[in-house]
Amino acid sequence: MKKFAVVGNPIAHSRSPEIHVAFARQTHIDLSYDRILAPLDGFASTIKDFFAQGGDGLNITVPFKEEAFALCNVLTERAKAARAVNTLWMQDGQLHGDNTDGAGLVNAMTALTWPLNPSRILILGAGGATRGVVLPLANAGATEIVIANRTFARAESLVEDLSAFIKNTKLHVTALDQLAGHFDLVINATSASLSGEGIALPEILTFNYAYEMAYGKPSSFIDQAKQRAVPTADGLGMLIGQAAEAFFVWNGVNPDLTNFSL
Ligand code: ATR
Repeated sequence: MKKFAVVGNPIAHSRSPEIHVAFARQTHIDLSYDRILAPLDGFASTIKDFFAQGGDGLNITVPFKEEAFALCNVLTERAKAARAVNTLWMQDGQLHGDNTDGAGLVNAMTALTWPLNPSRILILGAGGATRGVVLPLANAGATEIVIANRTFARAESLVEDLSAFIKNTKLHVTALDQLAGHFDLVINATSASLSGEGIALPEILTFNYAYEMAYGKPSSFIDQAKQRAVPTADGLGMLIGQAAEAFFVWNGVNPDLTNFSL
């Protein structure tokens, strides 16, 4: 039996085990998938122990994705661009790291038949969540990506870091209080909705689709998009999409996401 787990702090709420167990049932792969709570100062030893005991792969969640990135010997291009890792495995004694979050978002939007190629995308937020999705969105056909953040300098440094990876997509920064213009898609990658605070979307900002990366929480972003009769989706599809991509990395089999639900 193959052995997988998700590591985070907190971890009790994680839905990854039920997703991976459903994929395993669907693809007839014999595996276990646990939740591991790592102490905030004990992440490195937690993952070392897991692989020493014959574990096959780990997903990494908040707050350890950057630490996981720093521990890897081998990284995929999209993990390097994200500077964060959510999928780990050992190969020839080397710790390998990938980031499947952005591909998960692209998979989710493709399943929704939202057009990405070509597209003009506005992303709200410049934290880890944004960092993980810019390169996959560019590779999926975005012609222009604008990043708006409360702390402007943070958006500027994110764009500076990512521009080395982005070839055919224009990447810009704008201030969060100066949102304007028309976009095919707006993505809320801030943690504002998690804290119950909202970002006001002005009338001079218009868009065709709205994606909220958080899930399972009330979102003023989704409420505002619905008031404009714009199609919306929350981050559950992205969670399932990133899991499917990690499942493929570890097992070489793509789960069928058609009609997949939790
Ligand atoms: P994550 O890994 O989820 O991206 P993060 O790195 O802490 O988490 O980033 C959180 C993002 O949400 C940041 O872009 C943050 O803006 P700042 O860089 O200005 O801190 C944004 N954010 C959080 N609360 C917000 C709020 N109330 N209004 C606007 N932006 C908010």
